Amino acid sequence: MNYNHLLAKRTARIKASAIREILKVVSQPGMISLAGGLPAPASFPLEIIDELSSLVINKYGSKAFQYSATEGFPELRDALTILLAQKGIHVTADDVCITSGSQGLLDGVGKVLISPGDKVVVEAPTYLGALQAFNSYGPEYICVPTDDDGIIPEYLEEVLKTQKIKFIYLVPTFQNPTGRTLSLKRRQKVAELIQKYDALLLEDDPYSDLRFRGTALPSIKSMAPDNVIYAGTLSKILAPGFRTGFYIAPAEIRHWLLLAKQGVDLHTGTYAQAIAAEYITGGYLQKQICRIIDIYKPKQEAMLAAMDAHFPDTFKWSHPEGGMFIWVEGPQDFDAGTMYRKAVEKKVAYVPGKYFYAHDGDGLGTMRLNFTVTDPELIEKAIHTLSDVIKAG
Ligand SMILES: Cc1ncc(COP(=O)(O)O)c(C=O)c1O
Repeated sequence: MNYNHLLAKRTARIKASAIREILKVVSQPGMISLAGGLPAPASFPLEIIDELSSLVINKYGSKAFQYSATEGFPELRDALTILLAQKGIHVTADDVCITSGSQGLLDGVGKVLISPGDKVVVEAPTYLGALQAFNSYGPEYICVPTDDDGIIPEYLEEVLKTQKIKFIYLVPTFQNPTGRTLSLKRRQKVAELIQKYDALLLEDDPYSDLRFRGTALPSIKSMAPDNVIYAGTLSKILAPGFRTGFYIAPAEIRHWLLLAKQGVDLHTGTYAQAIAAEYITGGYLQKQICRIIDIYKPKQEAMLAAMDAHFPDTFKWSHPEGGMFIWVEGPQDFDAGTMYRKAVEKKVAYVPGKYFYAHDGDGLGTMRLNFTVTDPELIEKAIHTLSDVIKAG
């Protein structure tokens, strides 16, 4: 039987992720991968999780395995208020809602807000998983250019002034894929613009805790609370397998997000939420963040030093103060897609940057390099190899 005619129109809009195809290559023997976006497995606090698993069973008993509220496990919602206060977001547990990863929220926002043809503003480049989540709802993307300080407010204002948009999607800190951070001045400007033009911002913030250097910046949510849905996650500071994300949204939007989530999964896994709650209230999170930074910082330094030593002068790259990625921009005639095949032959994988652009044909000379899963010596070797491949042309 042919099933294609059975597919919904929105299903046909979903494309297989190119990154998944790339990640298959990564598992080949001897490959050094700078391609993935995974946290370092060595950072997962397995012993603590082991202890907390028993604690949760003793403390909550069957409650940890029962259906629970769509909003989230009360103890976790409560615990997250402390984390959020550190980012200048002062809320009560009732304001915090839990999702199945922040990816669950991205899909929820798409479902609740986007009708086919609606305009959604994204950075160029932006997080591929957000594009995938929104795509099936049929938006038209308005791509706003970015530079070393993140999205350029003048271009954003031009869009807000002239077009009717549904929402803006930004990753302001240690962005995926660029690693770049929106400067304080620009955060203030974005906050001012969304208030001036009555626009809604989805602020996706999975990486801000992974700061190796410099001073933490306030969230845009803390500057314009009524205009922002703030999304956080425990994926990069505990473990992604918990599939535990969270958000703070204006009340009317939260209402619809919760109804949409009821139809998807009723609620995020109770047991994972209970362990996450104990993990935060037990004071493990701050220590774990320091531990992750201790693992990532030398890896990032090794990558930047190797790039300084080997990459041609015609290339430029981001120097993030944290996060998981470095973004490379080659000269005009550089094609990161063609070079990808040559690099794979030499056993190094990365992600060509074009996949992070909403519009085909953009970003052909760019690439995303990840430094979190590979050891510093192998990072140095991989960058050396990439430079050789670039220079060989
Ligand atoms: C910018 C951004 N948002 C959201 C996610 C999804 O994270 P999770 O669903 O694990 O919380 C990721 C994952 O890499 C990401 O980079």
